[in-house]
Amino acid sequence: MLDASAQIEQKGYLEEEIDPSLDLFEEIEKLKKIKNAIILAHYYQEPDIQDVADYIGDSLGLARKAQETQADMIVFAGVHFMAETAKILNPGKKVVLPDLKAGCSLSDSCPPPLFKHFKEQHPDHLVISYINCSAGIKALSDIICTSSNAQKIVESLPKEQKIIFAPDKNLGAYVNKQTGREMLLWNGACMVHEIFSYEKIIRLKERHPEALFIAHPECEDHVLAIADFIGSTTQLLKFTKDHSAQTFIVGTETGILHQMAKNAPEKTFIPAPPDNHCACNDCPHMKLNTLEKLYLCMKNEVPALTMDEDLRLAAKKPIDRMLELSAQLGIQ
Ligand code: 13P
Ligand code: SF4
Repeated sequence: MLDASAQIEQKGYLEEEIDPSLDLFEEIEKLKKIKNAIILAHYYQEPDIQDVADYIGDSLGLARKAQETQADMIVFAGVHFMAETAKILNPGKKVVLPDLKAGCSLSDSCPPPLFKHFKEQHPDHLVISYINCSAGIKALSDIICTSSNAQKIVESLPKEQKIIFAPDKNLGAYVNKQTGREMLLWNGACMVHEIFSYEKIIRLKERHPEALFIAHPECEDHVLAIADFIGSTTQLLKFTKDHSAQTFIVGTETGILHQMAKNAPEKTFIPAPPDNHCACNDCPHMKLNTLEKLYLCMKNEVPALTMDEDLRLAAKKPIDRMLELSAQLGIQ
């Protein structure tokens, strides 16, 4: 949740007009040097933001980068829970987010008071939470995971260990299937990955029999069932670069297509069709960030994340556990 002071701060700076003659790419480069700032961007950001970023990655890569950076200011071009993770790992650094309202439907589907009650009903269960959750949920978890490491983290635990998996029921069901476990799943989901139309993907595959359909594990089970490859955003990107196929139907947020096309300009990438009347499957939260807002947040250093120290320490423990486990398990 956003606190009142942060909302007021954000309102003030968003109203600032930008001189239209400014070259924002140049101005952002200047601000990086003056402020010793690093821009970390998720693959779902708009292409201009990806192009000015110092590091573009998936949630695991971004958390690692946030942990090791020497910059004084982290400019997080992503959504709130990602910037929050950077703040948890870097309490002494300024962490700014272009638009503080960039939330996440998946994170919102798991409110801490309800989850605490659920957890209390299963005291013998260990809690693994997907990183797409609030600091409050992280503080109630034993281990955090991302889509890059979820399966390996679950497999590293004894078979008889009872597990609650939150908040994404689709990723949880996918990991259950891959590992043969029966983790208890919280009933949360991502609005972007639940929107893909099975029927339209089948029809698209028929029109492009040479194309491979690749999907993120946040997609629903019946959509994953027709995928030729399933993986996190980084794994999908690597797959499209390394595989000899020339055409891919991409079942994740469209922002990733920018890096896919940059890595393999000769290949064709078709966004998987959603089950709605418009043709886009953009994340409305991720796309709240714009180059203009990125420039303003770097210049004015607001909105900046703040966090209660007890909450931060409790939320940090399961993230540290994930980072240690990922290093031990050799997860890229
Ligand atoms: P990854 O980039 O970790 O695969 O996560 C996808 C996502 O939905 C981020 O919001
Ligand atoms: Fe959240 Fe889904 Fe958007 Fe990722 S794509 S930020 S999980 S709503």
